[in-house]
Amino acid sequence: MSNAANDARAPAGAWDAHADDYMRLFSPLTGHIARGMVALVQSRLPDAPCLLDIACGPGDLAVAAATLCAERDAGSVLATDISPRMVALTQRALQPIDADARAEVRDGQDLGLESASFDAALSCFGIFLFPDRVAGWRTAAETLRPGGLFATSVWRGPESNELAKAQMGPLMSALPARLTNPPPRASWADLMTAEGLVDEITRAAPLIDPEIHILDATLALPTPNAMWRGMVGNPITGALIAACTHEEREDVERAVLAAFENRSGGPDLPFLLNTSCHVLIARRA
Ligand SMILES: C[S@@+](CC[C@H](N)C(=O)[O-])C[C@H]1O[C@@H](n2cnc3c(N)ncnc32)[C@H](O)[C@@H]1O
Repeated sequence: MSNAANDARAPAGAWDAHADDYMRLFSPLTGHIARGMVALVQSRLPDAPCLLDIACGPGDLAVAAATLCAERDAGSVLATDISPRMVALTQRALQPIDADARAEVRDGQDLGLESASFDAALSCFGIFLFPDRVAGWRTAAETLRPGGLFATSVWRGPESNELAKAQMGPLMSALPARLTNPPPRASWADLMTAEGLVDEITRAAPLIDPEIHILDATLALPTPNAMWRGMVGNPITGALIAACTHEEREDVERAVLAAFENRSGGPDLPFLLNTSCHVLIARRA
């Protein structure tokens, strides 16, 4: 889960290390959004669609796309991610599906794929994290045939997204002042509004007719501690926590867990957070 205020320059190795926890803790949430994204484009695809998943993570969107191809007995899916472990998890998830679907390690900032070869390129909580997002939007658009569909999801800001407030609020309050003064700004802060997202993508790439959909989902974790562990392992929130000294980190953990336990009602009770994202859909000019 990546909804933190910080620079998103996380190397592939950091995502590799987080991949299994991400799949277990967070892909029930992001997978719901991923399946929603496929549903949003599905009726506009050709009968035998060539589909691209950029920053596939553990593979939920690729699985939904491959399932669509299996139902139609036509089409293909290429899932890509910079993290070899994420690609391996996706490959494993795709295996039982009777469809032409595979996963490959590729940098979404320079995919190296043939131009105009896909009917749809989708990125669920992927490109918005890239250090060079403009390259991400542009290379995604380049893979599309004219009229092909681009879809991406990005978390909404704290005023409309409990995740951003209730996950990050306690962390920001607990971090030592030297790390929060000035307050770290999410690298994708400009994309938290529908207008910002549309503006950046349509300026960066030849994508037209943008539409925005709002998808909401609830993150359900077994305990507050699972949320904390997920934040420590996540390359974005983890980088903030890793900047603490050992003593600072212990204080931060105590304070954040106390806030989370207060919210859940106790250390052994489930931790639930409502989340909200924008899904942008646009067409290749
Ligand atoms: C928040 S996860 C989203 C994963 C998945 N799409 C989902 O919705 O669950 C971000 C993903 O972006 C991948 N990623 C980060 N930088 C990347 C890059 N430059 N190229 C391709 N993938 C990248 C990470 O490895 C990780 O799998």
